[in-house]
Amino acid sequence: MAKRQTWQKRYIDSGKQFEWFFNFETVKRKVLPFIPKSDECRIIDLGCGTSHFTLDLCKASEFQGSVFLTDFSMEAVFHQQKIYAAPQSSEICYDSGIPCNGVPSNSKTSHLDKSAVSTEHKKSSKLKTKMTSFFLCCDAEMLPLKDHSMDLVIDKGTVDSVLKDKNNGLSRARQMLKEAARILTPGGHYIQFTDEDPDARLSLLENSLCDFDVYRHFNITYSSLGFYGNGIEYFLYVVVRK
Ligand SMILES: C[S@@+](CC[C@H](N)C(=O)[O-])C[C@H]1O[C@@H](n2cnc3c(N)ncnc32)[C@H](O)[C@@H]1O
Repeated sequence: MAKRQTWQKRYIDSGKQFEWFFNFETVKRKVLPFIPKSDECRIIDLGCGTSHFTLDLCKASEFQGSVFLTDFSMEAVFHQQKIYAAPQSSEICYDSGIPCNGVPSNSKTSHLDKSAVSTEHKKSSKLKTKMTSFFLCCDAEMLPLKDHSMDLVIDKGTVDSVLKDKNNGLSRARQMLKEAARILTPGGHYIQFTDEDPDARLSLLENSLCDFDVYRHFNITYSSLGFYGNGIEYFLYVVVRK
């Protein structure tokens, strides 16, 4: 569950779309208030898998900025490229993707490190939405993104999966959380969906961000999302960079 190869194999073998925990519709009311409104804003999904959560969120909020779908499984990233280009996403259609090694330098991509490998789907002038999507196959523990470059970071089950590494789970989760905090803009939100209860998760969040002088620079809160599926309680943790 914590290894790239395991996820890659899972996505190739299953060949099906999979939504971890719950879909966007289930938690829509809780999530919509976090969606940034300006067309300069950027949202990133860390460990997007084959989830449709972020696409549905962008559609529901008529998001006008840039959205980044990232995963260390290439198969998951390919899936996202397909769904963002598919006819059923007709409100959000794109011109053909532009695969590139190294990233073209223009204002839209200036927040990416030069080493990033991405595919960008640009808006088409005849479309209603102005959203632009980027697809990055990368490790969430070492993101090819500049400091303070994302307004909303979404993590749905990704820290949970990293924590399953028996030997290094805790240090890897901390590293991923540090990266999430590093890329947050001032006023930006990191939102995390998990079934881990606050006793354990709050201290993980606080300890991971202690290098940043956590209480001075961040505000950490949580709320219960209720019980779903087989009676498991889910939580939403929110880290705001002050
Ligand atoms: C539990 S699944 C959740 C997938 C998706 N967010 C959802 O809600 O269905 C965890 C995802 O995180 C990805 N992942 C795990 N560790 C990662 C890491 N260090 N860097 C990037 N992606 C990672 C896996 O490939 C997998 O797609």
